[in-house]
Amino acid sequence: MTDRILNSFQLNLFRQILSTEGLAIPETAEEVFELQLHHFATKRRIPLEQLPFRLKEEAALRRALTEKLIVHESYFYREPHHFFALTRSVLPELAKCKSRPITILSAGCAAGEEVYSIRISLLEELPALSGEIRITGMDRSKKIIEAAEKACYSNHALRELPAELKQKYLKPLKNGFFSPVEAVRENVDFVQADLLKETPVKDSYDIIFCRNVMMYLTNEARERLKLNFEAALKAGGAFFFGTTEAFFNPPPTFRKLHFGNAFFYRKTGKCQ
Ligand SMILES: C[S@@+](CC[C@H](N)C(=O)[O-])C[C@H]1O[C@@H](n2cnc3c(N)ncnc32)[C@H](O)[C@@H]1O
Repeated sequence: MTDRILNSFQLNLFRQILSTEGLAIPETAEEVFELQLHHFATKRRIPLEQLPFRLKEEAALRRALTEKLIVHESYFYREPHHFFALTRSVLPELAKCKSRPITILSAGCAAGEEVYSIRISLLEELPALSGEIRITGMDRSKKIIEAAEKACYSNHALRELPAELKQKYLKPLKNGFFSPVEAVRENVDFVQADLLKETPVKDSYDIIFCRNVMMYLTNEARERLKLNFEAALKAGGAFFFGTTEAFFNPPPTFRKLHFGNAFFYRKTGKCQ
């Protein structure tokens, strides 16, 4: 007896189609995926058996489904040990040899929580340097990039931000939400782009954060991103993953380093 919505043939068909968008469906998430799919098809009045054929032919429908399945969860001061490694080890080193500005990419930035957390860490720990650092948040979702630009956060998104930092850097809005103060929003921009489809500009960033993004991607997509990031990172630059992630096979130019509870990769070569 089974009350699964899809048989294994259908499931594999969807897996194949979504892999063209770089998205993986791990075995542990199959049942949740089936429910999401069922809901997606019902809402659009498409019989589930027809959905794979429609998805193959209609790029807009494929994008809509991918958008629905992608996890956008993020929050302020998530895995703060990375921000300490950034301000106490990576940036002081880079600042010695780097011409300005220093550029940081938040790849898969969700609604801006990571970008603004980096800004708060800079203002707290390296105020003199903070004006010389530019941060770009990049995400494939148009809706989520619009939310990052709007910068309006619930208490839930601020749950890990220490109270004194919340008071100093977030101002309450009338609707019970909070918005970063002007200083936190300076030197920041957001771009809608699919990291898998854009060709990266070589040597364009000193530091790349790509945290909690690759875990949702197929192996093939992860490999592609790895090459893209290696190309986009400047010599002497640093790459940060989420705490539970690592390269299975790191690029030959990346060296793994530790600082406190954090690890990161430094690209070999002299920074300039
Ligand atoms: C789980 S959130 C992680 C947010 C943040 N980095 C953090 O650690 O809190 C993953 C984000 O990556 C974005 N993403 C996934 N695949 C992407 C791709 N190919 N190109 C750009 N953004 C992508 C998603 O839209 C989502 O907002």
